[in-house]
Amino acid sequence: MNFKELCLARQSCRQYSNDPVPQEKLDYIKECVRLAPSAVNRQPWRFLLIDKEPMLSQVKACYGRDWIQQAPVIVVCMKNEQEAWTRSCDGHNHADVDIAIATEHLCLAASEQGLGNCWVCNFDVERLMATGLIPQGFIPSVLVPIGLPADEPRPKTRKPIDEVWG
Ligand SMILES: Cc1cc2nc3c(=O)[nH]c(=O)nc-3n(C[C@H](O)[C@H](O)[C@H](O)COP(=O)(O)O)c2cc1C
Repeated sequence: MNFKELCLARQSCRQYSNDPVPQEKLDYIKECVRLAPSAVNRQPWRFLLIDKEPMLSQVKACYGRDWIQQAPVIVVCMKNEQEAWTRSCDGHNHADVDIAIATEHLCLAASEQGLGNCWVCNFDVERLMATGLIPQGFIPSVLVPIGLPADEPRPKTRKPIDEVWG
């Protein structure tokens, strides 16, 4: 698969099979996340791979959609704003930029390995913080369910290229 083919293959997967996710695929994804770039190489992130009860149910309960119940693995992507680089001219903290890059590494690596995945930001942050799973200093930014996909490839709906460029 070349990079454009991977971009087309990655899609938001909201249907998963019950099959377990091979450990070597998860290890591959972890390494691809570790290699992500970040501002001033601060790497202001941490990731929790949740695949056991009761933590799995606790995390899924923070996102009130039935489809996420099928996912055998959830990755909690967390940012640390104290560790992240802040631009001096306007005080802009880059933790969100950094965590987004690493999270997309995660999603693209999972897709390359034939695993379904989906960005999920519309979850209850306070509820997740209250589980006690989130280490001190970190804020959960994205949940990424991972599993063998049970959906079908879909065409991309995107703006035309001349609206995106220039
Ligand atoms: C920052 C971000 C947050 C998202 N949050 C959610 C979410 O909470 N729930 C969900 O089902 N999809 C979520 N998505 C998936 C988008 O809806 C999806 O990427 C978009 O519709 C394009 O479809 P595709 O991923 O299949 O190409 C999110 C995507 C991004 C990039």
